[in-house]
Amino acid sequence: MSPPHLMTLADLSVPQIRRLLSHSFYSKQLSLPWLEPHTPQNSRAKDLKLPSQSLFNKTVALMFNKRSTRTRLAAETSTTLLGGRALFLGKDDIQLGVNESARDTARIVGGMCQGIFARVGDHSEIEELAKYSPVPVINALSSYWHPTQILADLLTLHEHAHLFPDPSASPSDPSKPDIKNAKTSIKTKKKRMAALPELRPLTVAYVGDSANVLHDMLVTYPRLGHSLRVASPPKYRAPPEVWKRVEELGCDKGIWWGEDPKEAVHGADVVVTDTWISMGQEAEKAQRLQDFQGYQVTEQLCREGGANPDWKFMHCLPRKPDEVDDEVFYGPRSLVFPEADNRKWSMMALFDLLIGKWNIYVPEAEA
Ligand code: CP
Ligand code: NVA
Repeated sequence: MSPPHLMTLADLSVPQIRRLLSHSFYSKQLSLPWLEPHTPQNSRAKDLKLPSQSLFNKTVALMFNKRSTRTRLAAETSTTLLGGRALFLGKDDIQLGVNESARDTARIVGGMCQGIFARVGDHSEIEELAKYSPVPVINALSSYWHPTQILADLLTLHEHAHLFPDPSASPSDPSKPDIKNAKTSIKTKKKRMAALPELRPLTVAYVGDSANVLHDMLVTYPRLGHSLRVASPPKYRAPPEVWKRVEELGCDKGIWWGEDPKEAVHGADVVVTDTWISMGQEAEKAQRLQDFQGYQVTEQLCREGGANPDWKFMHCLPRKPDEVDDEVFYGPRSLVFPEADNRKWSMMALFDLLIGKWNIYVPEAEA
């Protein structure tokens, strides 16, 4: 059996993505009590169910040749919860790229570690690792894709589903677990845990650079029933390799693409952006700052563009004030910090299923 790699969410079917989201939500509920201080007055450990220990005695190599705060932290802390060890291998720590090829490195690391989580420059670098690795390789960000970010974003939207009420549905108490859903979608032993809240189809606007974060949104949101409205300057359109995947999955039918940020946010329930200068593009900074003038996400832009008055804001972080002002970023619409926290829980689910169990392809009912 070949290892289940993950280069982009385009590699996963809709049931697989849903399974990952449900498992992220479940893993979070199970794990949070373990992270509280267990003082003598609060010694509940004996009553707590352990999260999956599928990485017990296992090591995940984090091969990062670019900086990271969230992705690295999420990987290291979630591996701990799964009983394993994350081994950080920065670009100056190993022979890769200087004295050794990706092919040989993949075989060597895969001979000693049970998974590879790699952050690379050009996307071809991670494809090369996956081609020769005997263990699962997961993309921690490449020039084209950022799949683990979009899993966390979707988990965050589902958790905040009560902020996006369905006008046609009867009112319900969002603080109560979705028992009906729980009964039908999780195993008997898990019944006391709430299931992932359902999310109505949203209109999601993305204003800014067509980069890795947007690209994984393009191949995922339309398949889950959400429509995407993108505004980017003409010369920053998604590359043909990405657009090919978008079309193969039929996602293009759910995407509106234009140049005008105001037009893009029309009717938006959620507005998303990313830095205008991705890692590795620092030399293009002056040109990019000029090309993206008018694309900053502000209250005024969304009001004038006719966004849903209750629109929410998301950003993968790290953030610069160029692409979103402080009023929005730190304001009540912003979901950016829960979104960052959820990197950990979605990573935990991904590592459990892909690296620990190799079973992302098993239907949820049999998990
Ligand atoms: N969002 C994200 O990937 O952040 P880091 O670059 O800090 O990992
Ligand atoms: N587009 C950004 C995302 C950072 C998480 C970059 O590649 O730098």
